[in-house]
Amino acid sequence: MKTRSFAEELQYARAHTYAVGAFNIFNYLSARAVIRAASTLNCPVILQTSSATVRKFGPAELGTMLRQLAWNAPVNVLVHLDHCQDVELAKACIDSGWDAVMYDGSRLPLEDNIENCKKVVDYAHHRGVHVEGELGRIAGVEDDLKVKDDEATGATLEESIYFVRESGIDAFAPAIGTAHGVYKGTPKINFELVDQLRQAIDTPIVIHGGTGLSEETFLRLIQKGGAKINVSTALKHGYIDGCREYMEANPKKLDPIDFDQYLNCRIKDIAMDHMTIFRKPMQVR
Ligand code: 13P
Repeated sequence: MKTRSFAEELQYARAHTYAVGAFNIFNYLSARAVIRAASTLNCPVILQTSSATVRKFGPAELGTMLRQLAWNAPVNVLVHLDHCQDVELAKACIDSGWDAVMYDGSRLPLEDNIENCKKVVDYAHHRGVHVEGELGRIAGVEDDLKVKDDEATGATLEESIYFVRESGIDAFAPAIGTAHGVYKGTPKINFELVDQLRQAIDTPIVIHGGTGLSEETFLRLIQKGGAKINVSTALKHGYIDGCREYMEANPKKLDPIDFDQYLNCRIKDIAMDHMTIFRKPMQVR
């Protein structure tokens, strides 16, 4: 079911102080489990795909699968491409039915990042698709994207305002000190920047690196303006740990449907736990 577009859904979340959960799925089972979680909570959800996942399936095959799942869901399901550094791959996803794409030019000089973002925005907007952009570099590992701690840089307020205005993006991911993967210590998050950005720009703010943040941190980020929160590593752990647990508990069982059902529940619960927090500060609906 499609009700609001990607940009509308994030604007709505921003206006009502909650965040839409954006989960990186990697196969049919994980996509279905996240949709089941959203359906149980009766809330919108974003299914994200990394560039590596898109390359593995091919944009046409993956797009067909995800569009079909989204179409049959009882809630609004939006399909988004996460961290794409390749303008041509972003265009291929736009042509294959994604609702939104993230062009990640954060490793480039500011003007080059803006120029490439604009190319994607131009192509996407002509086709009714929305675009997320990033400024500063977010540390950690997200599939084939690796940014070492000493390569990470924080976004600044002035550059962020300039970047958002010049690029024409619909959602903005500033590097605020969160990271992809498992946190080694407590992250040093620039809450103030999120707060200042919310007041300075109308564009919804995206929080990356959702795995491992505390409930208190999530709520603070949402109160300050985070309207989309990305979660990936937690789902991967649920899937792989769930496989191990099932095999250990049922070494002789030959029942793939039961196995899938077990993994489905593991991933659904993880997605539900996150979305329940993301919707806590909400005042309406
Ligand atoms: P985590 O893997 O830390 O949940 O981060 C997800 C993310 O930000 C995807 O872009």
